[in-house]
Order: sequence, then C-alpha cells, then structure tokens
Amino acid sequence: MPHATVPEYQHIQVTELAPTFGAEVSGIDFTKPVPPEVFQEISDASAKYGVLVFRKAGLDDARHVEFSRLFGELDDVKPYMTLGRINRFPFLELFDVSNQDDDGSIVQVGSKREVMGRGNGLFHCDSAFNPRRAGYSLLRAHELPPPGHGGNTDFADTRTAFDDLPEDLKTQLLQNDYIGANSLWHSRRKAAPDSEFVQDFDPEAYPFGRHRIVQLHERSGRMNLYIANHLHHLEYPDGSRVPEPESTLLIERLLAHATQDKYVISVEWRENGDVICWDNTAAMHRAGDGKFAGKFKRDMRRTTVHDSSSQAWGLNERTTKRMGLP
Ligand code: OGA
Ligand code: MN
Repeated sequence: MPHATVPEYQHIQVTELAPTFGAEVSGIDFTKPVPPEVFQEISDASAKYGVLVFRKAGLDDARHVEFSRLFGELDDVKPYMTLGRINRFPFLELFDVSNQDDDGSIVQVGSKREVMGRGNGLFHCDSAFNPRRAGYSLLRAHELPPPGHGGNTDFADTRTAFDDLPEDLKTQLLQNDYIGANSLWHSRRKAAPDSEFVQDFDPEAYPFGRHRIVQLHERSGRMNLYIANHLHHLEYPDGSRVPEPESTLLIERLLAHATQDKYVISVEWRENGDVICWDNTAAMHRAGDGKFAGKFKRDMRRTTVHDSSSQAWGLNERTTKRMGLP
C-alpha cells in the first residue's frame, strides 16, 4: 500500500509506511558525509516515525559507523568478545547480527550459536538489559538471502500501544510507576525453552537493566511503553518485587497488547545496502522468520547508539560494564 510523501521536509523525502509509525526516507547522498541540515530532518522524522527505512543507502562498514555517529555516542562489542566471540569486522562499533559464524560460515540450525540468537525473534529493545540502554540502532543488510526466503524485520509501535491502553490499566501503570528488570539471559531462555544451551543460564546471577516501563519519549513528547521480552520481572519504585504471578501476567499482558497486528509493521529487506534505523525508546523489533536459515547467508551489521535522553541509565549504576561482563 503506497503512502503519500510528507511535504514538510526540505532536504529529504519521507513516505509514511503507516500513519504514525515507520517511514521510508530517500533523497540522501550517502556517498558524502551527511550535512547537519539534512541530518536534522532525519532526526525529526525519526522522532515522529520511530522507524526509518533507507533503501539502497549503499554504506560500507566505515561509512555506516560514520553516519551512525551523527546520532550520538556508539556502543561497542568489546564486552561480548569476552564470551568467546571474535569480531569479523574491523570496527568494534559494528555488531554482527548475521547468521554466520566468526569464520564466515553459515550457522547451523540447532547449534549453540543459532539457539543463542533465537531471542532476536522475540519482540525486544536493544540493550534494555544494559545499564545504559540503546537509543537508536542502525541495521544494514550487507548480504541478503535470495528473494522469497523471508527474514523481514518487524516493528511494534509502543507509543501508540500506550495511548490505546484501557484507562484502568493506564491508571494502574501510572500510579505504580513499575520498574522493569531486563535480562538478555531471560529472553534467550524464553526463545528456546527446550534447549540445554540456554536453560542453565541464571538471569539472577547477573545485574538486571532496570528501566521504568512507562516513560516520556522526550524527542516526541509522547508517552512510551518501554517493554521487551527481556523483562524478567517488575519492581516497585522502593525496590521490592511485584509478586508472582502478577508480575509475569502483567508483562505478558502488555507484550500481547503492544504486538497486536494493528501496531506492527513488517519491513522487507529488498536489496543489499538497505538500512533501517529505529529508536529503541519508541519501538520494539524482532527478526522475522525465514526459510534461509542454515542455507543462505543473511549478513546483517548493526551499530548501536547509546541513549542520551534523561532516562538513558534508568535506575542502574552508571558503569560501562555491560550485564556484569568484565
Ligand atoms: C538487531 C535485531 C533483527 C533482524 O539487529 O538488533 O534484532 O531482523 N535484528 O536481524
Ligand atoms: Mn535487536
């Protein structure tokens, strides 16, 4: 369904994918550094739409990192290297989100690496489990599977989902001011309940990323439901836990509400060089299913921009340690 181009931009063309959420942006010359006035419009469009799709941006690794720096301070993969990974790329700011092993071979279905990656298929926000959460993520298709093999990325509009909550639930959330305790180990376990590779992880053995689940999205002035499948449990502002099963039931109710079809767009990756930039503080995302798994490369590379809003650190200690890793 084609949508109208939004007229208020001078330097870029913005085409809505849905009325309040998701837009394709074109008219940017990515062969050169992006000038401030152009970036300002990209930033404005991101605040409004949450998810921006740049078709055939054609960035290489270096220019991907350079473009991402315009959005803020970049996260790096150093702590995750301590888990035994080797970086395929010459930039510590590039996260390997491919289905390839560190030697470039295709990850086999059922292998430890594939099982660990399944959490990406559950709706989440990047780095919600870290002391400083992610603001933007910029994901680039370096090498896609052949067309027709799936592998879309889906996005859920958590701001509109908040607006539409039943009044009694909205009041409950605002009055209780719940804090979400996020864990990467938790979402990995949730995504692979039968796998021996992840069931031994104990989320309680690592620090949680604590962030309020209802908060103002400062760049747009809209409220947002900051939820994800990383949510292990909820707490009250005094630090005590919301009792079970209430905590899990509320998490699941909110996740189910925010991921209804009416809040979700599925973005198809069409060509190598496509880039999607999303705001993790205004949307959830997940890797869609695909028939490529185990057969074709899906070489996706991501930069992650630290959040710089006043809520970036949530209730966490301001440490550069991520998930308690060295
Ligand atoms: C990510 C992610 C989804 C995908 O890069 O953070 O969740 O479709 N990716 O690869
Ligand atoms: Mn992700």
